[in-house]
Amino acid sequence: MKLSLIVLSLLLVAEGIHSSRYRRFDPATKENYLKQAKGVLERVPLIDGHNDFPWTLRNYAQNQIAALDITDLTKLEPWASSSSSHTDINRLRQGQVGAQFWVAYVDCKTQYKDALAKTWEQIDVIHRLVKANPSTFEFVTSSKGIEDAFSRGKIGSLVGVEGGHSIDSSLGILRMMYDMGVRYMTLTHACPTPWADNSQLDNPGGVPVNDGLSSFGKLVIKEMNRLGMLIDLSHVSRKTMRDALETSTAPVIFSHSSAYALCNNTRNVPDDILKLVAQKGGVVMVNFYSDFVTCSISPATLQDVANHMDHIRKVAGVDNIGIGADYNGVSRVPEGLGDVSKYPDLFAELLARGWTESDLEKVAGLNFLRVFNGTEAVG
Ligand SMILES: *[C@@H]1O[C@H](CO)[C@@H](O)[C@H](O)[C@H]1NC(C)=O
Ligand SMILES: *[C@@H]1O[C@H](CO)[C@@H](O)[C@H](O)[C@H]1NC(C)=O
Ligand SMILES: [Zn+2]
Repeated sequence: MKLSLIVLSLLLVAEGIHSSRYRRFDPATKENYLKQAKGVLERVPLIDGHNDFPWTLRNYAQNQIAALDITDLTKLEPWASSSSSHTDINRLRQGQVGAQFWVAYVDCKTQYKDALAKTWEQIDVIHRLVKANPSTFEFVTSSKGIEDAFSRGKIGSLVGVEGGHSIDSSLGILRMMYDMGVRYMTLTHACPTPWADNSQLDNPGGVPVNDGLSSFGKLVIKEMNRLGMLIDLSHVSRKTMRDALETSTAPVIFSHSSAYALCNNTRNVPDDILKLVAQKGGVVMVNFYSDFVTCSISPATLQDVANHMDHIRKVAGVDNIGIGADYNGVSRVPEGLGDVSKYPDLFAELLARGWTESDLEKVAGLNFLRVFNGTEAVG
């Protein structure tokens, strides 16, 4: 009797091991996870925090988009052979994207020169992109707007400004950008502004310029709070992160950053900051750029990105993770996450790792909607 129980439990253990491996690798089971992931993304909008498609519109089409059909860019040059072209309507639909922050980015060379004019042009091209594709996109400026567009089957389209140099140290410009629909501003790009330090200053040998945020920088945070504009801490120095977290009365976002503990690039978020973001109820939207995922010259994989999500979940919590892939902004994207059609594959991987459908709903959009709604409430 006793022996047969032992034999039975050994068999059960063996079966357990077998079935977990089965779960991981069997194609039919994988297909089921994918189906389950797609089901989640039908219920909850997948909100991606960062796509640089507008930057490629400037580079490849000089923002002349009236005659540009963006349904399928896999056959049209120079998009087709560009390693930085990951977005078109077909693939957005395949990837079940529910809402997208389109980024009005201009590079640091424009600081103190034509940053303002070029930023307005990028905001303009986003407006025109949405207007030119009304059956796909809907311009939205609120958390409610994202939900409404999603319920109509439209991709809610929002504007984020990447880099504080874009406001030319003017709160008046910041306010006008809000009026033109801008709903987040990344405090810096790869250069310090006169009021905020960027992440590269944390590299070995880097010297702070503002020691985080200057007193004007803190005023910018307060004005963003007052407007109800999201504060984006991707690209800023560790001290700027701390100063902003201390100053802001609203939760903050990282629109496209991953975990520093897994890849020590200063564009990623260190564990102590992950904990502070969670305390403030914010969200870290995970970046897919190979260089930030593995810190290696060989391409990262979908599994590597999932490792970052596992880590952020462990340190900050499942309520503080989102997605900010950085498509079209970078050239090297992970194997298995080659373009905007691949989000369901990442969610299927998370299911295989034991994440629940409720976890996935949070990561896809509910966490971000909470942060956005909270920011609006402060405004
Ligand atoms: C990351 O780690 C590598 C290897 O230890 C080191 O050379 C590099 O300086 C580190 N980067 C930073 C930003 O500390
Ligand atoms: C949005 O924020 C308001 C004010 O804090 C709160 O009452 C409401 O429940 C929130 N809604 C959602 C959907 O989180
Ligand atoms: Zn960026």
